[in-house]
Amino acid sequence: MALLEISGLVQAFGGLVAVDQLDLSVEDGRIFGLIGPNGSGKSTVFNCISRFYQPQSGGIRFNGKNLLKMKPHQVVRIGIARTFQNLELFENLTVLENLLVAHHTHFRSKLPGCALNLPRSRREERAAREAALEILRLLDLAQYAEEKVPSLPLGMRRRVEMARALVTRPRLILLDEPASGLNHREIDHLTETLRDVNDRFKVTILLVEHNMNIVMSLCERIAVMNFGKKIAEGTPEEVRSHPEVVTAYLGEKK
Ligand SMILES: Nc1ncnc2c1ncn2[C@@H]1O[C@H](COP(=O)(O)OP(=O)(O)O)[C@@H](O)[C@H]1O
Ligand SMILES: [Mg+2]
Repeated sequence: MALLEISGLVQAFGGLVAVDQLDLSVEDGRIFGLIGPNGSGKSTVFNCISRFYQPQSGGIRFNGKNLLKMKPHQVVRIGIARTFQNLELFENLTVLENLLVAHHTHFRSKLPGCALNLPRSRREERAAREAALEILRLLDLAQYAEEKVPSLPLGMRRRVEMARALVTRPRLILLDEPASGLNHREIDHLTETLRDVNDRFKVTILLVEHNMNIVMSLCERIAVMNFGKKIAEGTPEEVRSHPEVVTAYLGEKK
């Protein structure tokens, strides 16, 4: 069974059909690419999965559960995390604090007594800190734990956002253009990190990205969107040589 199953998804804004009868099936444990020109509907798909948008029709199931019946915080609760095309970190907090906030909002309300805001035991605090530091170590961020976010270069801030998503221990992570604005060295580092995250955390990745080196080297399967519709899907080799994909998207790149 697919981990994420999207069927006949339609999301329109007034007369504009941003996502048009989209079917997508992402198998557990994979890195799945979603590519297409600007405005083709990729971020809108993410916003439907995250439940920021209410699609007009179609279905989204995660691990067999109907996502369209859930609220955004419930989507995180059942194991879907995301990063944003424009970073959304807490700028006045340190790297570690950004992770702890995510850890607390995710795990706290699950525990009995949390609704009463009872003080957390020191042991719980320490466990949260240890979990956050472990993820920072895995993402080569440990030495920046006490730094404030704005002092870090963009590549690092993108990694912090990924670390923050991972702290909720998701099964699926949605990454919206994680390489955007990064230099070559940062892009190589990111590629390795994504491979690592997929491997070590057993996290399924749905990756929206314009950098074709990353997409082609990491993704086992790729779907291509144009004007809200899926125009192709297959292995990197199949997609790369698909005539409609070359015309609509890849032609201008390579
Ligand atoms: N909240 C919104 N209101 C109106 N139009 C939107 C909204 N979100 C996205 N769109 C439109 O939907 C289309 C697809 O956008 P988007 O999903 O952001 O594309 P992509 O991520 O592939 O670049 C665009 O034409 C965009 O302007
Ligand atoms: Mg987008």
